[in-house]
Amino acid sequence: MSKTTVSVFAKRREAGEKIVVITVGSAAESAAAAAAGIDILLVGDSLGMTMLGYDTTIPVTMEAMLHHTKAVRRGAPEAFVIFDMPFMSYHTGIDEAVRNAGRALQEAGADAVKLEGGADPELIRRLVCAGIPVMAHLGLLPQSIQTVGSYKVVGRDAASAEKLISEARALEAAGAFAVVLECVPGELGRRVTETLRIPTIGIGSGVECSGQVQVLYDTLGITPYTPKHAKRFGELGEAMRAALAAYAAEVRAGTFPAPENTFK
Ligand code: KIV
Repeated sequence: MSKTTVSVFAKRREAGEKIVVITVGSAAESAAAAAAGIDILLVGDSLGMTMLGYDTTIPVTMEAMLHHTKAVRRGAPEAFVIFDMPFMSYHTGIDEAVRNAGRALQEAGADAVKLEGGADPELIRRLVCAGIPVMAHLGLLPQSIQTVGSYKVVGRDAASAEKLISEARALEAAGAFAVVLECVPGELGRRVTETLRIPTIGIGSGVECSGQVQVLYDTLGITPYTPKHAKRFGELGEAMRAALAAYAAEVRAGTFPAPENTFK
């Protein structure tokens, strides 16, 4: 089977076929997502909250992201995997950003990187020039939580909507192959999608985007709180608690391990 490259997603957009993206952070998760036919596996820095127990994505490091991306790649050798550049891995200069993004492809086996923000199209140009495909990310930017103050919808007023559209255009012109739109009004999601030729991947940005991305733990019903943009397609958190309680009960009752679990 030939390896998926970014041109596939441009063709999917042209054909009006929705692109399905999910976050993953382990080999077991990536194997399940690949087996389910998900198009893109995003090793999102939201794993800092879902898997590592932090309150924000700020503490997530390059080393942590490399570690998780290697595991994701081992679980799904053929999948299209995107490495989410963590806080401070692309803010201190273009050379360091290119070097860090290069590590994502060279050391961890990612196919592309994602980075937040619209302020620096030159950075995207340099990454693409170096042969590194880039997914941009506009709207709510979780890595800016310390300056923005709260997680809120972006682009509700005309000025911020126009600003976002012009940033999206600039990122496309700089060579981004797709753009994530996080928590922008559905109408703005539609406008950006109509304006750009590259696919838009929405999270909380309406059904008109070219595709959707969701956080795996929200989608599986593992996280106790469900954000408005998410839907619980399962209740795995409850299933885990029930299975573990049954295990504990059987150990305490002396019914596990049974003879069939015991080596003769
Ligand atoms: O880290 C993440 O999960 C993300 C998605 C919300 C797009 O960046």
